[in-house]
Amino acid sequence: MNITKVVIPVAGWGTRSLPATKNIPKEMLPVYKKPAVQYVVEEAMQAGLTDVVFVNNQNKRSLEDHFDRNLSLELVLKRAGKKDLLEEVLRVSNMVNIISVRQKEQLGLGHAVACAQEVVKNEHFAVLVGDDLIFSAEPAIAQLVEVAKTEQMPVVGVMEVPKEKVSNYGIIGGEEISPGLFRVKKLHEKPRPEEAPSRLAVVGRYVLPPDIFSYLEKVQPDSQGEYQLTDALHFLARENRLLAVKVSGRRFDIGDWVDYLTANIYFGLKDEELKQELTKSLKELLACSS
Ligand code: G1P
Repeated sequence: MNITKVVIPVAGWGTRSLPATKNIPKEMLPVYKKPAVQYVVEEAMQAGLTDVVFVNNQNKRSLEDHFDRNLSLELVLKRAGKKDLLEEVLRVSNMVNIISVRQKEQLGLGHAVACAQEVVKNEHFAVLVGDDLIFSAEPAIAQLVEVAKTEQMPVVGVMEVPKEKVSNYGIIGGEEISPGLFRVKKLHEKPRPEEAPSRLAVVGRYVLPPDIFSYLEKVQPDSQGEYQLTDALHFLARENRLLAVKVSGRRFDIGDWVDYLTANIYFGLKDEELKQELTKSLKELLACSS
């Protein structure tokens, strides 16, 4: 199984992050020094994926531009002798081969993935949800790719969530076949806590087979008119063709303000130059607000 392409759906409205996202795509919101989407693209690159397919809409050109050259800025930095910044800007431009497809209507994650069919064609591919940031020594998607290749099966990434949060996620039900690896029997999209088959939530990381597109065609819209990827995965699960791997790492949902703000602090604290002053400032802030 050769996996080179990663589909990143980025056409959503980002309503949870309004008014910040009125004219800025939520994936371009900065998390410390980089836009959120850059972390997701870097995760894919670290896992050896080479081609990024953005499922985009007409208002999201800035996402593609971020990974393109900016010749005027490069000239300014060069003239000013800012060599390090110039190198960083060039590194981002050369990071990845971007292919863009349009999602003309925002009809859900399943619909977004289906928009990538013509680019993906007959290969297995990865899907990374653009507002789920996950950090660990081994990139989250690499943890899935490894299992997919060894087991020759599609894989979803899961993490345990508290019972009261299951209704924010796709939740799997299945049997644990080895530590942290599950054969998925069913999936429920955003179930009520009392109906959830487990507390294992799908976290925006998938390795999918090309025939997922034929399953997506069979999916019926939900009560909001959206086509859920979870429903297509449920068809795979019913045929015993889906695994779930418990992803290790620290996850931030950038559409959630607490997670978003925590992610900024998390990265600030990782920067040795900033750590001391930031810690001092946070301590002062916490002392005042308590
Ligand atoms: C989507 C999926 C859901 C998954 C979640 C992870 O939901 O439909 O199954 O658990 O991403 O972030 P959304 O957050 O787009 O509503």
